[in-house]
Amino acid sequence: MKRVVVLTGAGISAESGLKTFRDSDGLWEGYNIEDVATPEAWERNPELVQEFYNERRRSVLEAEPNAAHFALASLQDKYEVHIITQNIDDLHERAGSQNVMHLHGVITRSQSSINPKLTYPIDGWEIKMGETCELGSQLRAHVVWFGEAVPMIESAAVLCSQADIFILVGTSLAVYPAAGLINYVPRTVTKYIIDPNIPTVANRSIVEMPYKATIGMPMVVEELLAAE
Ligand code: APR
Repeated sequence: MKRVVVLTGAGISAESGLKTFRDSDGLWEGYNIEDVATPEAWERNPELVQEFYNERRRSVLEAEPNAAHFALASLQDKYEVHIITQNIDDLHERAGSQNVMHLHGVITRSQSSINPKLTYPIDGWEIKMGETCELGSQLRAHVVWFGEAVPMIESAAVLCSQADIFILVGTSLAVYPAAGLINYVPRTVTKYIIDPNIPTVANRSIVEMPYKATIGMPMVVEELLAAE
């Protein structure tokens, strides 16, 4: 089986009703990263940070996977598919994708605020102040903040280096180290990019699909399923 590696960003979940970060109505238009998405923000005002991610979790739980998530899952019938997602929603899994690496964590789990390796399922949409991990520290959202390490980046780079086909979808490629992953994909590998607003990609041999994810992803999947 050929191996398809897919790097997804907020754009793939936009049509499920989840806001992206850097589009005109994106999340970072309404919030300052420094206030809600850094270790310093958590130190300064944990209640505000907790509330921000509780709201994100509530939106994720209310959202449903869309045609792009489902199309990607159907690719597993004929390919070994590995999804590397920057998204903290669980819509790939709910659409049926099996190999999903959450580079930036997943909002449906909580995390110890002193040991990021300790993560737990969450009952409902809210992490309350006063809820603690097994070490007695306050629980926070299991997400990677700006200034924190991205623990799975090396495994992600290895996956990219072993791709037979590579697909980028719905990411502005503004945030490193995720944005650098394309550099690990061998030059000869067929690459697609699906985004209504195609970002600049250093590697030029890439098939551009300037469409929304729910249109572009089924097109690419159909092409790949017909090819094998
Ligand atoms: N279909 C496909 N792509 C879309 C759609 C859509 N319907 N709507 C918007 N997009 C594209 C935009 O054109 C843009 O290129 O999705 C991309 C969204 O970019 P960002 O908002 O920057 O999101 P992302 O690249 O996932 O952000 C990376 O930044 O704040 C951090 O941790 C956060 O994981 C996130 C990281």
